[in-house]
Amino acid sequence: MDVKPQVINGIDLEPDKLVMEIERLHAIMLEQEKLASIGQLTAGILHEIRNPLNFIINFSKISLSLVDDMKEILGKVNDGVTEDDLDELTDIETNLSRNLDKICENGERAMRIMVNMLAQSKEINAEIFEPTNLNQLVDDFLKLAYQGVRGNNSDFNLTMKTSFDKAIGKVNVDAHDLGRAILNIVNNACYAMEDKRKQLPAGTYSPQIEVNTLKTATGFSVSIKDNGTGIPAAVKEKIFKPFFTTKPNNEGTGLGLSMTYDIISKIHKGTLEVNSVDGESTEFIISIPATTAN
Ligand SMILES: Nc1ncnc2c1ncn2[C@@H]1O[C@H](COP(=O)(O)OP(=O)(O)OP(=O)(O)O)[C@@H](O)[C@H]1O
Ligand SMILES: [Mg+2]
Repeated sequence: MDVKPQVINGIDLEPDKLVMEIERLHAIMLEQEKLASIGQLTAGILHEIRNPLNFIINFSKISLSLVDDMKEILGKVNDGVTEDDLDELTDIETNLSRNLDKICENGERAMRIMVNMLAQSKEINAEIFEPTNLNQLVDDFLKLAYQGVRGNNSDFNLTMKTSFDKAIGKVNVDAHDLGRAILNIVNNACYAMEDKRKQLPAGTYSPQIEVNTLKTATGFSVSIKDNGTGIPAAVKEKIFKPFFTTKPNNEGTGLGLSMTYDIISKIHKGTLEVNSVDGESTEFIISIPATTAN
């Protein structure tokens, strides 16, 4: 007698169940198609908005310098202008400059959000895993982040303690994205240390960052520890959420750690752990399963 298998690849072939299974798979497929097209649409929209946003930012900068020029000329033609007029002119000038500053600042903030979101949608679409010297990558991005912070603030100094496990060698990772993740974590660390330095009396605090890499049973781990402000428990719960930031005056987009989390967990199937003692230190530990490359 010919006995037909009832279950193939986990799919029950009994007619009623088969129809249900096809409907279920069809629904999943539609959902995925929808998500993919939303992703493409978002990338398209972001791209289109970037140009007008550039106009807003550039023209507000030009207008700001025009206001300065105007101020200079008006300073020379005070004769015949009443005191009231002069006061009003000064008010207008101040308000114009302030408004233009706000337009420019918020335009730049929108631009940063867009650039980050664009990068995020691209990175999910185009993952490139390649043999990478992990220790070199960590070292390069650590220095890059430090130089970036020093470029904006030449007062900033820190002690770097590194310990790189040579046994890691070359591993298959998406080097570009992993580099960005490390950059984000080190940038946050530098910010937290600079923040603490500003709060304490001069000369009483030395910023220090410790970076270690370690070969693990399944791949490797990277830990980045700073002795900055630390993260209060209530803040810690939210740090991986998109757009969550505690930085003042629109200084942060709040996308750094949500992107970092996606790079580690979605792209590299790893974990990102955070340990922090409020007021003392913060440590981020990246653990990634990875194959060794030659
Ligand atoms: N090393 C750290 N020490 C103290 N707080 C931190 C540290 N890393 C992250 N945080 C907290 O997590 C928040 C979210 O970080 P995230 O990188 O996502 O955004 P952001 O740094 O505020 O903005 P952006 O990354 O755009 O500059 C920060 O605003 C800060 O409160
Ligand atoms: Mg950040």
